[in-house]
Amino acid sequence: MKLDGRELAGYIKQRHFAYISALSRNSPTPHLAIVDIDGESDSNNKEIVSNKFVRLKQEYGEDVGADVSLHQPVPGAAKDTIRHLNDVASVHGILVQLPLPANAGNGELLRHITPEKDVDALNPSSLFNAPTPAAILWLLSGYGIDWHDKTIGLIGQGRLVGKPLAEMLRQSGIDPMVCDKNTGSIEEVFGNSDIIITATGEPRLIKREHIPKGSIVVDAGAANEDGVIVGDVDPAVSDREDITISPVPGGVGPLTVCALFENLLRAFEEQPS
Ligand code: GUN
Repeated sequence: MKLDGRELAGYIKQRHFAYISALSRNSPTPHLAIVDIDGESDSNNKEIVSNKFVRLKQEYGEDVGADVSLHQPVPGAAKDTIRHLNDVASVHGILVQLPLPANAGNGELLRHITPEKDVDALNPSSLFNAPTPAAILWLLSGYGIDWHDKTIGLIGQGRLVGKPLAEMLRQSGIDPMVCDKNTGSIEEVFGNSDIIITATGEPRLIKREHIPKGSIVVDAGAANEDGVIVGDVDPAVSDREDITISPVPGGVGPLTVCALFENLLRAFEEQPS
């Protein structure tokens, strides 16, 4: 079975549109500021993926009637840009596009986003759930897969998915089995988990033979291969009818944008403007 995120995303998007349309005529509009630092990229591939995600967020904003502004400071000015946006009352959410350029430091910058506006949950102090982990759990719940009573394995421990998802699961009383480049093995995770969530960004890392019959696999990887976004799971797996799997594209991705805007609407509700 395929876990199709597009259908569920369409439903949530419709709700966001209805929410914003129902705001009174003199209400402010929910506003997301995207900071896309204009520095040296260490990989052309990463840049293509990153630009695509910026566009998706701009399009979603247009579709639901939210304001989305794009700010492209040079690395030396990025801290001031973030601090300024923290103080602008008409901006409700701030997102710094990742990966940061090679000459923009190691992430220290992100700490300047105020927790009330940190809608992409880029810092542990954020008041919001991280969008991709939230999207993964929505996708499973949307298909009636009760993840609360399952053993869960996570492959990849990145800032946007693996780490915050592990934390969210622990807060729900689930201790996931975790594996990354340095610890554990893919075989071990597949051998011991009911649900496997993979988010390494390494195309085709998960091969057909890794996936036992009956597995539930959520592929949250997104890398660029010749201009096409591909997941962690080898596309050759797509003909398997004995497993449940989320496709890339069309699985977790569409719901991640929804989860980000869900956070934006909450930030909008909670901030005086
Ligand atoms: N780059 C690619 N996707 C994302 C995302 O969801 N958030 C951020 N901050 N950067 C990204």
